[in-house]
Amino acid sequence: MTTLIKLIIGLTFSLVPSTTTSNTTSEGITPIIVENSVRSEKTTAYEILNKKCNVCHARRNKRRVFTLENMTPWVDDIYTQVFIKKRMPKGKKIKLTTTEYQQLLTWITSTQNQ
Ligand code: HEC
Repeated sequence: MTTLIKLIIGLTFSLVPSTTTSNTTSEGITPIIVENSVRSEKTTAYEILNKKCNVCHARRNKRRVFTLENMTPWVDDIYTQVFIKKRMPKGKKIKLTTTEYQQLLTWITSTQNQ
């Protein structure tokens, strides 16, 4: 029993310095990981906007063709039209899948947390 406790204490102490060093490194890494995941959420959302919205907007609403640059400033409009008023995607032909709704929402939420 005592050997076990000594072993645990020994282990804990031997782990402390390495934990501290890995903490300092992860501090430098974390923002990059967060930034990357935000970026891929955005890219995923952009692919949906491009595939399910731009196809029509390009013809019928040219001033609202989504790009990686304008999608974030338009996030509130997108949220309102797709999730609140449910007006978009317009018509019956183009539909979003459950996954696409989820992915859009994930991106929308990520922009609110920044
Ligand atoms: C089949 C055609 C079509 C599709 C698909 C479509 N839209 Fe639209 N959208 C329109 C048209 C036309 C307008 C302008 C007239 C209106 O608001 O109804 C519009 C307007 C909008 C507006 C501005 C509305 C306002 O009142 O400010 C937003 C935001 C929008 N669309 C988002 C989207 C998003 C996001 C998608 C994809 C998930 C999408 N639309 C898919 C045709 C479409």
